Amino acid sequence: MKAALLIESMTGHTWNAGERIANDLTQEGWEIVGYDSLRRPDHGAIQSADIVIIGTWVDGLFLVGQKPFGAAAIGKLPAMAGKQAAVFCTFAVNPRKTLDKMTGIVSALGADVIGGLALHRAKIDEHAETFATRLVGAVDLGAPAASTA
Ligand SMILES: Cc1cc2nc3c(=O)[nH]c(=O)nc-3n(C[C@H](O)[C@H](O)[C@H](O)COP(=O)(O)O)c2cc1C
Repeated sequence: MKAALLIESMTGHTWNAGERIANDLTQEGWEIVGYDSLRRPDHGAIQSADIVIIGTWVDGLFLVGQKPFGAAAIGKLPAMAGKQAAVFCTFAVNPRKTLDKMTGIVSALGADVIGGLALHRAKIDEHAETFATRLVGAVDLGAPAASTA
């Protein structure tokens, strides 16, 4: 699988999570064709990817108003019709509906969002590994059955 990652990060947690995810996917045999800031997307990498992974952080008032930071930038990404996508966010307390909002925005770009995970910023390594493992499993499940001829 060829994956392109697009990341929004202010203090580094989400960027680190994306790197960990990319590393885990590489160990599973995936090829990382792009690793870029959400605000400076590599259109060629998106074009050549089978799956686009989008990560950002939870912005809100901690008790209410949670949303993906950079939602407008996600909405301005190039069209992704025919591509798979997965989303993740990092958070400190509670992501609430952030993933649902990300899924809605990325789906509107035409991508088939096959999964998402909220990663606690204090457990980045553990949660990033979980995300990568689930992603590989989801893609394997969706793959056409191997020919036994
Ligand atoms: C202005 C601001 C608002 C935030 N609001 C929330 C929030 O409502 N809920 C939450 O769980 N975390 C909230 N956080 C915490 C961040 O989502 C968390 O620290 C995240 O991992 C930051 O990612 P980054 O290091 O990639 O920038 C907020 C952080 C900031 C700076």
